[in-house]
Amino acid sequence: MWTHASSSASRRSSAAIIRSIWSGAALPAAVTAPLRDDARAGAALFVDRSCWSCHVVEGSGGRRGPDLTHVAARLDHDALVARIANGGPGMPGYAAALGSDDLGKIVAFLLTRR
Ligand code: HEC
Repeated sequence: MWTHASSSASRRSSAAIIRSIWSGAALPAAVTAPLRDDARAGAALFVDRSCWSCHVVEGSGGRRGPDLTHVAARLDHDALVARIANGGPGMPGYAAALGSDDLGKIVAFLLTRR
């Protein structure tokens, strides 16, 4: 899944994955603590699937893509699904890499970001 990324992106994403495994919480506790069920699982996937290595949420994360702190104020459910499945300039499409279950959980998390 990282073959299309530059080597510096690969290094950063490996660091993000290691950090998420070691700390279990790369996102701020203020973001993750209130989450339940699918949104909670989605926040973990957001880190483990390296979204977090390119996107900031509440000041934490990478800066190659837009800050997603308030993404649900801009994009609704269907728009989020389409953006993540298809990707865009500078972002890989995740339609093949994520099952619809995991994609739905990540979207449930992002919908809490109003
Ligand atoms: C290699 C860096 C990178 C990774 C990894 C990445 N993104 Fe992105 N993402 C971007 C860039 C760059 C854009 C802006 C693309 C554009 O202008 O169309 C973007 C755009 C978005 C948008 C639209 C934001 C807006 O305000 O319009 C969403 C939502 C999003 N990404 C979610 C995700 C999710 C969820 C994941 C993980 C499954 C992910 N991204 C992984 C770089 C990345």
